Amino acid sequence: MAHLLYLSYMDDAAAKELLDNAAGVLKINDRKLWTVPASDLYPHQWLWDSCFIAIGLRHLDVERAQTELRSLLGGQWSNGMVPNIIFSKDKSHWRDRNLWRSWISPYAPDDVATSGITQPPMLAEAVLRIGQKLKLPERRSWYKEMLPHLVHYHEWFYNDRDPHKEGLVVLLHPYESGLDDSPPWMSELRKHSMPLWLRLLEKAGLGVVISWFRRDTQHVTLAQRAGNVEAAAGWAAMRRLRRKAYNSEAILSRSLFVVEDLAFNSIFIRANQCLKEIAKTAAYDLPEHLKESMDKTQGALEQLWDETSGQYYARSFVSHKLIEEPSIATLLPLYSGGISKDKAARLVELLKRRRMFSTSWPVPSVPVNSNDFNPYKYWQGPAWINTNWLIIDGLKRYGYHEEAKVLQERTLQLVANSGMYEYFNPLNGEPAGAPNFSWTAALTIDLLKS
Ligand code: GLC
Repeated sequence: MAHLLYLSYMDDAAAKELLDNAAGVLKINDRKLWTVPASDLYPHQWLWDSCFIAIGLRHLDVERAQTELRSLLGGQWSNGMVPNIIFSKDKSHWRDRNLWRSWISPYAPDDVATSGITQPPMLAEAVLRIGQKLKLPERRSWYKEMLPHLVHYHEWFYNDRDPHKEGLVVLLHPYESGLDDSPPWMSELRKHSMPLWLRLLEKAGLGVVISWFRRDTQHVTLAQRAGNVEAAAGWAAMRRLRRKAYNSEAILSRSLFVVEDLAFNSIFIRANQCLKEIAKTAAYDLPEHLKESMDKTQGALEQLWDETSGQYYARSFVSHKLIEEPSIATLLPLYSGGISKDKAARLVELLKRRRMFSTSWPVPSVPVNSNDFNPYKYWQGPAWINTNWLIIDGLKRYGYHEEAKVLQERTLQLVANSGMYEYFNPLNGEPAGAPNFSWTAALTIDLLKS
């Protein structure tokens, strides 16, 4: 058992059982070349899910982890974008493929259907960590294989999604944030992206009509998913992007619904750092213009700092006003590694504050003192294992080893008690969302093994 983390509260047999359970979930969800996040609810390949999955899988089978990322890159667009969903080719899923219709864009790949938007760029981190499992020559060739894709992806952000050259990436849809119905996005959605028919439907108290068309709530109860009106507004926002064939320039010229997302940009800063490390190991020269842009991004989060409340927020790209809605994103600048020690200390204080993020089973996706907090509802309160993992990583980077260890142990205990669920009630640890959830399993493995 020497390879397992020493856990003060869990004996070797319990840790081994947890590891076996996690490996079992990844097996159930394995589709040979890629992994589904959860078999019924999410039957396709998702971007950041596959990155987290690869980070866990590398401990069990490094080649299979590499395959996961190669499949993901099979969906990369010719303009560099990596889409958030690559659809299963199975006949039964034609409706999902047809919803997004990626083939209307000249940039979409011919042989596979995808969505038309992206998701948090965890790719460079996953590539880097897989490399760390390989001997130097193999590591170099793995990095050399991945670098053209990564460079193209990161260049796409600067070409397509940083229109004012501020060093911050803009997002066009809540799904791009990965935190679909989190409060900052829902408040912007209500302000700028509610079609008239939906306002009328809501006013008339007929939101229930929407539920007849939803498929997600056939698998998980509505109380644990995004609300009906919010889900319909998300769908309507997707249709607007589709009408413009997912062309960022055309969309940006008209839309008021554009957000400089805090979680995404925090992850992007770290991704740039990973990309630099990968390039250095492979003795690969990154293009000068990309290096310059990346340098600008390194300190860009400071534009999102609010001194009065002592925290970072997302910002509306159009009004340039901060969206003062705290969420799990509040803590993710820790993961970026791009903020000062002083600011990191202030975020760690929020993490430890009982009225905010310090619950029995941390970390809630919305602070408990927020009006939006709901312990069972998707990204509006439950604790998620991927955001815990990002925070643990950030805590370590800023030297908070004790805090990182406590959160790591608490996270593993939560999964050991409640199972490999999609998310958990942060007050009592009850499981919620989909069972047998892949990133919960994969990151459990990583936390046990690192
Ligand atoms: C949900 C989550 C998103 C995740 C996807 C697949 O849409 O909000 O972050 O990638 O499910 O698990």
